[in-house]
Amino acid sequence: MYITYDDSLRCFHLCNDRVSYIFRLAGGRYPLHVYWGPRVRRIRDDLLTRLSPYNYNDDTFSLHETPLDVLPQECPVFGGGDMREGMLDVIHADGTRMLDLQYAAYRIEEGKAPLPGMPSARGEGAKTLVLTLRDALSALEVELHYTIWPDMDIIARHMRVTNGGSANVLIERALSACVDFEKPGLSLTTLSGAWARERQMYTRPVVPGDQGTSTCRGASSVQTSPFMALSTMGTDEACGEVFAFALCYSGSFTASVTMDQHYLTRAMLGINPFNFSWDLAPGSTFVTPEAYLCYSSEGFGGMSRQFHTLVHEHITNSKYAKTERPILCNNWEATYFGFNEEKLLALASRAKDADIDLFVLDDGWFGHRDSDNSSLGDWYDDTRKLPGGLASLSEKIHAMGLKFGLWVEPEMISPDSDLYRAHPDWCIHAGDYPRIEARNQLVLDLSRQDVRDYMVGTISDALRRGNVDYVKWDMNRNINCWGSARLDAAHQRELGHRYILGLYDMMGRIVRQFPDVLFESCAGGGGRFDLALMTMMPQAWTSDDTDAWMRCRIQYGTSLVFPPSVMGAHVSAVPNHQTHRSTPLETRAAVAMGGTFGYELDLTKLPQEEIDQIRGINARVRSMQKLLLYGTFYRLRSPFNGNDCAWMSVSEDKREAVVTHVNAQACPHTKPMPLRLAGLDPELDYVDVDSGRIYGGDELMYHGMPLRKIDQGDYLTTQVVLRAL
Ligand code: DGJ
Repeated sequence: MYITYDDSLRCFHLCNDRVSYIFRLAGGRYPLHVYWGPRVRRIRDDLLTRLSPYNYNDDTFSLHETPLDVLPQECPVFGGGDMREGMLDVIHADGTRMLDLQYAAYRIEEGKAPLPGMPSARGEGAKTLVLTLRDALSALEVELHYTIWPDMDIIARHMRVTNGGSANVLIERALSACVDFEKPGLSLTTLSGAWARERQMYTRPVVPGDQGTSTCRGASSVQTSPFMALSTMGTDEACGEVFAFALCYSGSFTASVTMDQHYLTRAMLGINPFNFSWDLAPGSTFVTPEAYLCYSSEGFGGMSRQFHTLVHEHITNSKYAKTERPILCNNWEATYFGFNEEKLLALASRAKDADIDLFVLDDGWFGHRDSDNSSLGDWYDDTRKLPGGLASLSEKIHAMGLKFGLWVEPEMISPDSDLYRAHPDWCIHAGDYPRIEARNQLVLDLSRQDVRDYMVGTISDALRRGNVDYVKWDMNRNINCWGSARLDAAHQRELGHRYILGLYDMMGRIVRQFPDVLFESCAGGGGRFDLALMTMMPQAWTSDDTDAWMRCRIQYGTSLVFPPSVMGAHVSAVPNHQTHRSTPLETRAAVAMGGTFGYELDLTKLPQEEIDQIRGINARVRSMQKLLLYGTFYRLRSPFNGNDCAWMSVSEDKREAVVTHVNAQACPHTKPMPLRLAGLDPELDYVDVDSGRIYGGDELMYHGMPLRKIDQGDYLTTQVVLRAL
């Protein structure tokens, strides 16, 4: 792995054993993108003469006749020679809009410096190139940071903009990464959805003009995901080239793709410029979130395995990051708001019988919250429901030999709360306009230090009182009525980003106080399923939809970027509360084993034989949890293409694997096709641990594994554990 500067070609080259990223300085001044793909020794192509209609070369290169408008760039800026949308767009104090950013210096650092105020990947073993560009007239300075690691084909990028002049500069756009592709026939894949059907996979050809995905809701959201992938023609799970982008950010973002007049495809990722600006005072610096650029020559499967390595090795941070996770039982779908201590203890005792490790008390334990229309902000115990408060309940749960977990929603405030009555200006609101509630609640203004300080205190007190082992941190609505009582008119458009910086500050302060607690993030299901929060919380609730078949789709899409170890997945009751569909317990369990495993149903209503079955399921989960959560992950069949779905995890030494296949509706008189596996050792023989049948690794991968008959019953599962002989 190295980062070099070749003076004769004026080329910077970042590479590890498998991937290269190259850009050059045109005329020694303007960084032009040259190459990103499989490792090469060098690229001698002279972009200037090939792409410029004026036959420029390094000696004659100038901004005249706007050659930048046709050249692939590393840091395009709006208002100069390039008339396309770029990474950076500023307005000077006199209202003009132009920058002429030229190369000033570079440095190479071991590792990677953390991003001030923002989560980012850890830099163990990495190297970082920092390229400095300067605009001479305004003294604005831009640092482009590029990090490469030896163990994955991912390059991290972000930008730092410093005002070295004497007047304020208004940033209207500051993105994290841009790549200009000179490649025909690309397709774009994004993850879009809604509440209860998050992260569905959509692919379409890139055409001239604008396309992509974005959100302006103040959260990474259920509607889309801070991710996009460009792939070459014919790419599938195992073959073809993928150039993917993911952002370490929890707020409004854009992931845009524009094909220009010469079929050059510009892909950019970063904070959404809509409803954003930043007043950059002299001497201050604006830092963009970190973006990850992932190259795969092994299709989408290869891309996901790179992202999974990123998450496991460089993103998740908690002491639980690489460990087995407790099997939990959450009371939400068992009781909703209608519980008292007696009911909770009965549920917990049944959970203990079922060999569950952790009992989680969800929404409704505080203030007078009997429904979702009150009490957020009043984080004191509701003694009508819990006569001895959290402390006494937690003690009783612990005495049963269970761990105790608690739900909180620290970013929100109910208009019907003591907190709101005391501080009506603490929520995000637009002056005297009506405060538009969603789920009967308003959003706390986390751009304010006083609000954050109060919330850190009151939430930490509750967690201490409950002596908790686990926390579910929920967030159940997005932001509207954009305005903060603390920001003046010139700074209101900073609110979205200031909220996210405030969230990272508040969440970080709480999480750091409880290093032994397992934290799970949640946002009305999977509404903020992003890499940034995973640096603080090693798992996230994937969706409020616990229906086994819907979960196949949601978990399949989510797995494009995220490994099973971060995806909360529970077995729930039938008929399912979201779809009213009934699926066998075996199938619900097999699908929930695709993530951090738990239950979310009223165990007191299950007959003893089902509790016994659950004990068996839990023993199975424990026996292979490390493999399920941290094994090398392969998607085998897509639920977006047909009537079935399959995936598998393989141990690092390829000696163990677990394969799961789910068939949706039965179709009479159909013969199941063999399921071709992946990632095994073709030279080894494997035994199916349950049936004792023996197969060759080559046979399983090239011919396939026979599936059980699937035409007599809906939603049947085959789960096979393979062990090398
Ligand atoms: C939304 C979450 O996704 C649910 O699991 C549950 O915690 C509710 N909020 C509680 O209000």
